[in-house]
Amino acid sequence: MENALNLDTVVLSEDKKSIILLDQTLLPNECKYITVDKAEDIWEAIYSLRVRGAPAIGCTGAYAYYVLADKLDTTDMDEFVKECTKIMEYINSSRPTAVNLSWALNRMHSVLLAEKDSKTVAEMKVRLMEEADAIREEDIQISRNIGKYGFELLEKLGKGVGIMTHCNAGTLATAKYGTALAPMYIAIENGWDPKDMHVYCDETRPLLQGARLSAYEMQAAGIDTYVQCDNMASYTMKSGKVGIIFVGCDRVAANGDFANKIGTSGVAIIAKYYGIPFYVCAPSSTIDMTMESGDEIRIEQRKAEEVTEMWYKERMAPEGVGVVNPAFDVTDHELVTGIITEKGIAYAPFKESFEKMGILPVEKFVDKKEDQ
Ligand code: MRU
Repeated sequence: MENALNLDTVVLSEDKKSIILLDQTLLPNECKYITVDKAEDIWEAIYSLRVRGAPAIGCTGAYAYYVLADKLDTTDMDEFVKECTKIMEYINSSRPTAVNLSWALNRMHSVLLAEKDSKTVAEMKVRLMEEADAIREEDIQISRNIGKYGFELLEKLGKGVGIMTHCNAGTLATAKYGTALAPMYIAIENGWDPKDMHVYCDETRPLLQGARLSAYEMQAAGIDTYVQCDNMASYTMKSGKVGIIFVGCDRVAANGDFANKIGTSGVAIIAKYYGIPFYVCAPSSTIDMTMESGDEIRIEQRKAEEVTEMWYKERMAPEGVGVVNPAFDVTDHELVTGIITEKGIAYAPFKESFEKMGILPVEKFVDKKEDQ
């Protein structure tokens, strides 16, 4: 079983003309890469979760901006800017909740607007490629730092610790290392035997990112790994086997409320009841200081078939029944022990803590408040 750290989730092709993505819909049974260079194919890859996880879709958004801009057949800068704006808006429409997608597109667009008067279109294309590469490189370092802070928490709990996680916020969800699974990778780098950790992965209905991706990552790293149906989390927590919970996030509001994969808020509520520390792992790009609270976060609603049919041999709900399928939920900041960023761990009151770390609102060209 290939250690997932050896797999690239998203990279630019050697000729710099397309994006190579690990197709995560096929994991863990098949490890296959796809190459995309058309706007519709990139949009589909993000929408269908071939590439998924907030930081990984951020990197994909940045490369999409560059690859599609690079194809534009114009030397007129005004025309180039107009077309890039359309690219940004189209790619951003693929998934609404994870802020990293719009964050990366906004960052690419800021570079364009700031430097358009001092560059030719050809020079600008090179500059955009460099920026997209920088976003990916930075993501690796950010994830490592989150892992280091998370590992310090594991060290305090000691070897033999039980860790619970929900969905997949591992190396597959980022450029490398992951956020919620990074502490375990860093523990191994620091000499811990993988068997010093027991990881409980919620399977994460309906798309099974926990069973298919987190369990694969942790098992391939040699860690003592368990998959549980989502409704078993309470049983495991009550058993006393869980010392800490690490989850990822798709968007954190200024007050510390955060959106993550559907089911996360239930895990947090149970953790509070049993007194288990509950940590959110968040690159600062996931913290959206333009939103005061989680009430402002738009929640992606997905197809009914993901609940009624997918993974089953035959349909498992009556025809015509109503279906609820939000992809994310918002967890109240009062349930959060701490938010682990690459700059340190934020504690309540979160807004002040973020501001002290220098995390501030960023300029938005897409995903503006009025678009929500
Ligand atoms: O729908 P997904 O698979 O993209 O959802 C992923 C999650 O909810 C992750 O926890 C989150 O994006 C953080 S990934 C570091």
